[in-house]
Amino acid sequence: MQLPTTPRERLVVALDVETGVEALALVDRLAGTVGMFKVGKQLFTAEGPSLVREIVARGERVFLDLKYHDIPATVAKACVEATRLGASIVNVHASGGRQMLTECVRAVDEVCAAEHLERPLLLAVTVLTSMDDANLEETGVSATAAEQVIRLARLARDCGLDGVVASPLEIGLIRQNVASEPFAILTPGIRPAGGEKGDQKRVMTPAEAVAAGATYLVVGRPITAAADSKGAAERIAGEMEAAFGPASA
Ligand code: C5P
Repeated sequence: MQLPTTPRERLVVALDVETGVEALALVDRLAGTVGMFKVGKQLFTAEGPSLVREIVARGERVFLDLKYHDIPATVAKACVEATRLGASIVNVHASGGRQMLTECVRAVDEVCAAEHLERPLLLAVTVLTSMDDANLEETGVSATAAEQVIRLARLARDCGLDGVVASPLEIGLIRQNVASEPFAILTPGIRPAGGEKGDQKRVMTPAEAVAAGATYLVVGRPITAAADSKGAAERIAGEMEAAFGPASA
């Protein structure tokens, strides 16, 4: 798919709910206000691919956040099925290695050409933000988390992936050391100006993340737990629009 052209197309809402009924209620409430809906491991495991098909059938975009990591053939085939499902963004772990990454790109390109499908963006997860330097060391990685983020983002870029998932505080690091747009950076950990942080420790406001160089912003509870979800999403989209300037709104 094309990179987003309007600020609200950059806003991705995390459907972190237990049931398809709750998820579809949020989709119906937020359609037209946000650009995409994230279906992650919890909701996908509960409801399966039919929920993704239902969201796509409503004309909405889906980021299928399943973070595949396995042998190259298995991950490539999973990416092909995610493409056939109609996902607009699919992600894999960059630590799966060069062969896995290049095989995914090749397989997705091939199925899109053969079956006339829209090409999803393939993004790589670098280092999970739950991992610090000591956790990495325990798994045999002697680099710091920041060094490893840069290394894996470069590997993803060199293998032809379209971008990475990164914490807001890594956006600058990646833009300086790896690539500018169109290489995409999708970032969670977004909290509206003056909002509750909850369990997110390292956060940025929507305007700060846009200014730092984020391509997509993933926002969950500030929208999904708000009494007025649509109003909350509109305020966040407004903060993003203000950061881009009125010409891009
Ligand atoms: O509710 P909240 O805005 O914190 O949701 C953020 C979403 O992004 C959740 O689905 C969460 O799992 C995901 N995420 C995150 N931090 C990461 C990676 C993913 O918050 N480092």
